[in-house]
Amino acid sequence: MNGSSFSELFKPMDIANRTTRNRIVLAPMSVCYGDEAGMVTRPEIEHYARRAEGGAGVIITENFAVSAAGRQMPRQTIVEDRRSLPGLRDLASEIRQKGALAIVQIVHAGRYAGPWHEYEKRRRLAPSAVPFELSADRIVTPHEMTSGEIEESIDAFGSAAELCEEAGFDGVDIHGGQGFLISSFLSPRMNQRTDEWGGGYENRLRFPLAVVREVVRRTSAGFLVGWHMMSDELAPGGWSIKDSLRLVPHLTAERIAFIVPTPATFETLRMPANLGLYGKRMYSVSDAAAVKAVSDVPVIANGRLGDPYDAERVLNEGVADAIGLARPLFVDPDWPTKVAAGNIPGIRHCPCDPPTCLRTQLTGALCDHWPNPVIEQGYLGYGM
Ligand SMILES: Cc1cc2nc3c(=O)[nH]c(=O)nc-3n(C[C@H](O)[C@H](O)[C@H](O)COP(=O)(O)O)c2cc1C
Repeated sequence: MNGSSFSELFKPMDIANRTTRNRIVLAPMSVCYGDEAGMVTRPEIEHYARRAEGGAGVIITENFAVSAAGRQMPRQTIVEDRRSLPGLRDLASEIRQKGALAIVQIVHAGRYAGPWHEYEKRRRLAPSAVPFELSADRIVTPHEMTSGEIEESIDAFGSAAELCEEAGFDGVDIHGGQGFLISSFLSPRMNQRTDEWGGGYENRLRFPLAVVREVVRRTSAGFLVGWHMMSDELAPGGWSIKDSLRLVPHLTAERIAFIVPTPATFETLRMPANLGLYGKRMYSVSDAAAVKAVSDVPVIANGRLGDPYDAERVLNEGVADAIGLARPLFVDPDWPTKVAAGNIPGIRHCPCDPPTCLRTQLTGALCDHWPNPVIEQGYLGYGM
C-alpha cells in the first residue's frame, strides 16, 4: 500500500485567500511549554515547528489566553501586550518556514480561568453565577460578569488577534467551545442573564458575535479567522447541534473562514452519558458532517481520527474538508510524511484513554509512547 491510497488527504485546500499543502491540520492541544509569565519558549517553538516539519498543512496552536485573567494553566501562553511579540514572531516564522499555515487559537477560559493552584483566589468570569462541578469533589460558583467586564473581554480578543497578525501568523482560531467564556454565553444552562447578553437565542449569540466582529475589525481582510465550535453541549437543556447549525450563517456572514466542530464541555464530559467520549473513534465526525451540510467555508473534523484509513474515508465521503489531529501528531509528528510514503505500520499511535498528556499538562505535556530520550528532554522538537 502506498501514499496514493490517501489522495484526498494530500489534496491542497483553499481557506479564504490561502491554500494549504494538504488537508491535515494539527488540532489545538495544550502542551503548556510556555513560561510562567506567559511568553513563548524555545521548546514551544520547536514543538510546533516540528509538527510542521512532519508535514501537517496547518498548525493550530493550543489555546493562548487573550489576557492574564482569561488564563487557565500555569504555563499557558498569554497574548496580552507587545511583550509577547518577539516569541510569537519566532513561532510564526518557524512554522511557516516548514511549509504550514500558522494559526493561533485564542481563548478566555471564563469560569475555568485559574491557574488551578490559584483557583480559589481568582475572580472566575461567566455570564451568570451558575454553580458547576469543576472536579469530582468541587462545586464552584463563577462570578456574573458586569457589562464592563464583557466589553473588556471583547476588546482582549480583538487585541490578541491584532498582535497575532502583527507577529506574522496566518490567522486565529477563536475558541468558542469546551465551556470556556464564549461558549458559556451560548449555553442556556450557563447563561441565565436577563439583559441584552442573555435570554433568547439571539441574545445569547450577542457576545460570541461581538468577539468575532472585533477580531475581524482589528485584522486585515486577508487574515484568517476560524471558529472552534461547541457543536453540541451534550447536556439536557444545553446548546444543541440544531443551535449550532443556526449559528453557522451568522459566523460566515462575519468573515469566519473555517469551522472546527467539537462536542461537549469539560463539565458535560463528566456526565455518565458522555464518559469516555474523547476515547471513541471518530467521535465528532457526525457533527462535522451536519455543520458541513450548511456551511460554505471549510469544516475540519477532529477527534480520534488517527487511523489514516478513517481520515481518508471522512474526506472521501465529503463529510469534512480537512482532518484535525491532536494526539496523533503529538505522539508522532511524522504521521503525514509516513502516510504519504505508505508507511502505515511505521506510525506511532496514541492508545491512551485517558491520555498521559492530559495528566502531565500542568507541568508540560509528555507522551508515554515517545522514545525515552524524548521523554527525558520533555518535548519532541527538532532532530527527534
Ligand atoms: C492534552 C489535551 C489538550 C487539549 N487542548 C486543547 C486546546 O487547547 N484547545 C482545543 O480546542 N482543544 C484542545 N484539546 C482537544 C483536541 O483539539 C482534540 O479535539 C481532541 O484531543 C480529539 O482529537 P485527537 O483524537 O486527534 O486528539 C486538547 C486535547 C488534549 C488531549
